[in-house]
Amino acid sequence: MRYIGCKKLLLKDIEKVIEDNIESAESFCDIFSGTVSVANYFKSKYKIISNDMLSFSYCIQKGIIENSEIPSFEILNKNTGIKNPIEYFNSVDNKECEKLSKEKRFCQNNYSPMGNRMYFTDSNALRIDFIRNKIDEWYHKAFINDSEYYYLITVLLEAIPFVSNIAGTYGAFNKRWDKRALNNIELNDILIFDNHQNNTSYNEDSNDLITQISGDILYIDPPYNNRQYSLNYHVLETIALYDNPKLKGITGRREQKQKKSLYCNKLKAAKTFEELINNAKFKHIIMSYSSEGLMTTSEIERILKKYGDAESYKMYEIPYRRFKSQSKDSANQLKELLFYVRKDV
Ligand SMILES: C[S@@+](CC[C@H](N)C(=O)[O-])C[C@H]1O[C@@H](n2cnc3c(N)ncnc32)[C@H](O)[C@@H]1O
Repeated sequence: MRYIGCKKLLLKDIEKVIEDNIESAESFCDIFSGTVSVANYFKSKYKIISNDMLSFSYCIQKGIIENSEIPSFEILNKNTGIKNPIEYFNSVDNKECEKLSKEKRFCQNNYSPMGNRMYFTDSNALRIDFIRNKIDEWYHKAFINDSEYYYLITVLLEAIPFVSNIAGTYGAFNKRWDKRALNNIELNDILIFDNHQNNTSYNEDSNDLITQISGDILYIDPPYNNRQYSLNYHVLETIALYDNPKLKGITGRREQKQKKSLYCNKLKAAKTFEELINNAKFKHIIMSYSSEGLMTTSEIERILKKYGDAESYKMYEIPYRRFKSQSKDSANQLKELLFYVRKDV
């Protein structure tokens, strides 16, 4: 999934930090999970705790991290004759979707030209509504269990970015149709790794959760600028929640107050980070950050050395050019940083 700050291209570097500094560990906590790229990568090695304050990330965590296989959908099959819901959704014809009553078409009514917005074409928006309503209907009838529910929501959320008419985030939609948005939405199964562990996912503020958990490796990947994720991914958040919210403005953001991260606030980021590190009951702390983030490198170093073993502190610099494609000039200055510190707990 395209996501600001996704660490898909940094996985090997994180692994190298672990190899350099950690002899043995059983558990790994990804406390700012986002797309779960990091949690899922390390699922093959450790028992995972994942977390994010956004609901759509929580759904993906439940679907990919807590599940240990693609669910069987046995009860759904017994009750409806549908063996494979993904195939069913991909093959259902438009006439069937058109049977959905107007009140149940949140995406079409709000995110398509019918609702004067262009996040999705009318037909993709209606298809998303059809799928989202069916998942809820099956869940309420107990045709699918929790694992199956989150798996299907995850499959839908993973498919949506491929037909979204946006330039990167849902902060705004394009005024002309991007080619990708004109494709029909297509759902695909997701590879689920079985690590034979009881992995757990949370949907909490990191600083609340940290007081309730403990383990070996804590991986910290907070936002590093003032762009709130809840505003940039509001469409995915609403499709995950499907709670019929009131929307406002041209971009159709949710009207109710959004979850705001203190890590996006220049004045509060360092204090919030300090609280997190102070309360962390993990033996090893690894953090990703940008060299141009709201907290300075020296602030991060001071905090990690204050609560961790100062001698173990290390900082790794990864050229941004390798991590992301950027123009040469900005790439020379910008670096992705990885920090390590050991903590006596
Ligand atoms: C840089 S992104 C993480 C990206 C993730 N590592 C990935 O590869 O997709 C930061 C994430 O932190 C979440 N977040 C921000 N503040 C938070 C907080 N106080 N508690 C929990 N999650 C938070 C955001 O919703 C966002 O998904």
